[in-house]
Amino acid sequence: MPESLPRHLAVIMDGNGRWAKKRGMPRVMGHRKGVEVVKDIALYSAEVGISYLSLFAFSMENWKRPGDEVGFLMRLLDDYIERELETILSNNIRLTASGRMALLPEGTRKKLEAAIERSSSNGGMVLNLALSYGGRSEIIDVARRMAEEAKNGTLQPEDIDEEFFKSYLYNPEIPDVDLLIRTSGEMRISNFQLWRIAYSELYFTDKYWPDFSRADLDEAVQSFAGRERRFGKTTDQIDSPKSD
Ligand code: IPE
Ligand code: IPE
Ligand code: MG
Repeated sequence: MPESLPRHLAVIMDGNGRWAKKRGMPRVMGHRKGVEVVKDIALYSAEVGISYLSLFAFSMENWKRPGDEVGFLMRLLDDYIERELETILSNNIRLTASGRMALLPEGTRKKLEAAIERSSSNGGMVLNLALSYGGRSEIIDVARRMAEEAKNGTLQPEDIDEEFFKSYLYNPEIPDVDLLIRTSGEMRISNFQLWRIAYSELYFTDKYWPDFSRADLDEAVQSFAGRERRFGKTTDQIDSPKSD
């Protein structure tokens, strides 16, 4: 692994359905295999020293899928939490979730909240599951809270700047995304992260998520390490920061 690691790695885990279809299997078998890859990539990310790993597991738009696929995904989530919690705890990983949790089935939501609570004092990698998550919903939820506070008189328009806005996002302690990976060959954002990807490096691979391996992650991180992030500045300014 190269030295320049992304602090916050985010992954759009796409292609489970196509992976299964290619093998003549029902789509849900792709999701089942996808969970195995989640387990492995999460542990590997913690091992190499990633601080924050955000995984796009279920989008707001995914609620529009057929009911039986949605039901299967919710049961998989339930199983994942139940079976993986001990591994998460023993690897010092802190579990978090981002999204509109109230939409999850009640039993699953409670299990998730309990797992988040049990891992809350862990100091290792933060594993952030984006569930029932939409980038626009996240921003709208910020706007609604701010509007409430403005109505109460506890928030003034001039209080709002980028730092302040950030503090109203889901899990505000999670920093901007440094590297965003999307699998399956699609080159789109699909409403992921939005606010935090303003200056992310993007990496696309044709591999379907169930085929994504540790070596693929190494490759993405190597690509990241070779890039120059200028954040609007010039190369000279980046090379000799004192000239700012
Ligand atoms: C990603 O795989 C998993 C979820 C969106 C839940 P897909 O289910 O989108 O698989 P494809 O893109 O149809 O192949
Ligand atoms: C994005 O994948 C959401 C997740 C990976 C959870 P989709 O398969 O839902 O994205 P679109 O609809 O093809 O853009
Ligand atoms: Mg997809």
